[in-house]
Amino acid sequence: MSKLIRGIRGFRDIPPDEAFRHRYAQDLTREHFLRFGYREIGLPLVEATELFTRGIGEATDIVEKEMYTFPDRNGVSLTLRPEGTASAVRAYLEGGWRVQGGITKIFYAGPMFRYERPQKGRYRQFYQIGLEALGGSGPLVDVEVIGLLHHLFVLLRIEDVEIFINSLGCQVCRPAFRVDLVDYIKEASAGLCSNCVQRIETNPMRVLDCKVPSCKEVLEGSPIILEYLCSECDAHFSRVTRGLTDLCVPYRVDPRIVRGLDYYNRTAFEAVCGRLGAQNAVAAGGRYDGLAKEIGGDAYGIGFAIGLERLALVMDWDTIAMPGVDYYIAAATDTARIPAMELADILRQKGYCVETDLEDRSLKAQLRSANRTGASRVLIIGDDELKEGTLQVKDFSTGHQEKVVRESFLEKVSGLNQQVKGEG
Ligand code: HAM
Repeated sequence: MSKLIRGIRGFRDIPPDEAFRHRYAQDLTREHFLRFGYREIGLPLVEATELFTRGIGEATDIVEKEMYTFPDRNGVSLTLRPEGTASAVRAYLEGGWRVQGGITKIFYAGPMFRYERPQKGRYRQFYQIGLEALGGSGPLVDVEVIGLLHHLFVLLRIEDVEIFINSLGCQVCRPAFRVDLVDYIKEASAGLCSNCVQRIETNPMRVLDCKVPSCKEVLEGSPIILEYLCSECDAHFSRVTRGLTDLCVPYRVDPRIVRGLDYYNRTAFEAVCGRLGAQNAVAAGGRYDGLAKEIGGDAYGIGFAIGLERLALVMDWDTIAMPGVDYYIAAATDTARIPAMELADILRQKGYCVETDLEDRSLKAQLRSANRTGASRVLIIGDDELKEGTLQVKDFSTGHQEKVVRESFLEKVSGLNQQVKGEG
């Protein structure tokens, strides 16, 4: 036998129960986004590398060391998307579908790729569901977007996710902050990790969210961006925080949020769950009014993306089960095998999940198999039942077995089905 070819590190197979959870969480999230007027958009997995180097920023970790970049057959540099915002803005600028003179609300879902060190909750291929509100610069857009995220956690019954917000200022006010920050960091550089020392020149803001404890300690007394905001940014941030407070959306201001992508200005936020350990951000986003200009257009924007793996990890699955098998149809004789498959099809058309034997196994083996599938009922058909137009119905939970007329069973079952659906 040849050697088993294994998957690539950081690229996971998603087992069925986890895939069910992703799908479940994603479906509720989609419906929630739709209720706020967002429309789904499909975006390519591959883009011109330049979109990300210019959009996300040359000096970010993503662009410096995490992108999957390769030449195509014509030597054009392409990159597997590390995130969705740059693509969404590109599509918005290119597409004829945007809302004229208003806010275009779009969302997307799918895999993203980053060459990061894999660990729990951090993968090289991971799934995001994200939304972007494009074309609106006012603070009420930010209020709605952050409120929407909060209400999603309420809908998904996640109680211990906290939303932290900050303002990153703009090109007018950030430079003065940067100068003071660099001075501060340079003076304290002896206590910083080598990564942070490197970032002093390239991306000093990122030093603020270094997770190394000694760096955190050093930065405790560092300048705070909120004290440097220009009057416009200050007014914007005040209206955002006031709006959230008035709408009873819980949040905390954290002046140390800087975000790992360069395109952000003004409002930035992260939704964090302590239970997740080191990779504790379930969702993150912010305003990016300058991103469109970097890629050759013009548009205000704000949005966020949720990490689907992390969302599924923080949801409580105790009361949400993967749908099980409703009926197992067992054939007691060879002549009953095709009629068993036919009955399975009829019940499936009524909306039930039905399994049947495909391996010519004995009745005893079929019953064992039915038990393994977790089917609540087994329908047994043999020669007598075929002749009489009957079925043996065995209820696994009570052990009770009775013979019923096939037609009346099927009639009753459709009623049952509607009832079950109605109850759900
Ligand atoms: P981000 O903070 O890079 O932002 O990612 C958003 C979320 O994706 C994170 O909070 C996390 O839940 C998840 N995530 C990121 N990297 C990984 C990974 N390697 N493995 C598993 N999950 C991960 C963005 O991507 C921005 N595009 C968000 C945004 C939208 N900003 C404005 N609009």
